[in-house]
Amino acid sequence: MNADAPVLECRDVSRTFMIGKGPFVQKKPLRAVQDVSLSIERGEVLAVVGESGCGKTTLAKMLLGLLPPSGGEIFFEGVPLSSVDRNAVSRRIQPVFQDPYSSLNPRKTLASIISLPLDVHKIGTPEERKRRVEEIMELVGLPRRLLYSYPSQLSGGQRQRVAIARALAIKPEILVCDEPTSALDVSVQAQILNLLQELREELNLTYVFISHNLAVVEHMSSRVAVMYLGRLIEFGTAAQVFDDPKHPYTSALLDSVLTPEPQYGLPEITTMGREFPNPLNPPPGCAFHPRCPKAMDVCSQAQPQPADENGRLLECHLYGEETAAA
Ligand SMILES: Nc1ncnc2c1ncn2[C@@H]1O[C@H](COP(=O)(O)OP(=O)(O)OP(=O)(O)O)[C@@H](O)[C@H]1O
Ligand code: SF4
Ligand SMILES: [Mg+2]
Repeated sequence: MNADAPVLECRDVSRTFMIGKGPFVQKKPLRAVQDVSLSIERGEVLAVVGESGCGKTTLAKMLLGLLPPSGGEIFFEGVPLSSVDRNAVSRRIQPVFQDPYSSLNPRKTLASIISLPLDVHKIGTPEERKRRVEEIMELVGLPRRLLYSYPSQLSGGQRQRVAIARALAIKPEILVCDEPTSALDVSVQAQILNLLQELREELNLTYVFISHNLAVVEHMSSRVAVMYLGRLIEFGTAAQVFDDPKHPYTSALLDSVLTPEPQYGLPEITTMGREFPNPLNPPPGCAFHPRCPKAMDVCSQAQPQPADENGRLLECHLYGEETAAA
């Protein structure tokens, strides 16, 4: 392992699913993630944002080593993730998923749910595991009296605290949080976001934080990766992306946050009329062109190439060398 390398790095990572059932149906490729290159530095909160279906969860699963890329490579501290032992990866990178209802076993008590990763990795004696469970419950704000309760006896927020406790039990360094608050009531969302922030500072964690709602990540992210139809279209610091968005899609997403009910995000970008395109039949050229208020002739003809604009990545014909040459 190379300590100077980013903790995680994607180089040209793609994932294609072949869609279509039956012997006489020709399968079609669905490019869920396409040529994504990004790095995650130790201690940062990297936000990944974009509308439903843009490939966030697929990317998260690849970062967790749960799904192999179909192209490109993911590196963990400079070493190809595919060559790192699965157990070693899961000890250091843990997921927190969206739905605390379905991700917790309803027949297990909190004590056994939270200690499961310790059992799987054979960490500590039964006594030590019990102490660790109690310690971690306190850390995430779950009263000790709930130790032998079942998930059905808890509120949504408490269940998400259990999911966070379970992820933290084996002291990982990186949490990949996939929409960890979007199934919760608005008031509870804020509590869980605050908890995640506090835990990150206290435990020195690195987060990959996925959300379809830019408002959720605004105050906690250090850098923001914006995805559209599987592609990374803008990637920069939080200040660059929030204060001075460059890509027309990022601007539209930010505008959507200013709607009267920003907590619901905006996945239909109503200002642009058209809906998210069919991923099995993506528009040619820049896939955003049917919805883009700044689209030019070239946009429907050629795929824009990634350009570096003062350290931020942009994939749009308005930026980069092609524009300068035009
Ligand atoms: N196992 C799979 N088989 C086939 N297609 C898949 C599979 N997983 C994801 N997809 C497709 O890949 C695309 C990206 O899906 P993904 O779940 O990564 O998006 P997302 O950004 O997480 O969306 P959401 O915000 O709704 O969670 C979608 O078109 C989805 O239908
Ligand atoms: S490449 Fe063209 S269509 Fe795509 S975002 Fe840029 S201006 Fe809009
Ligand atoms: Mg998802």
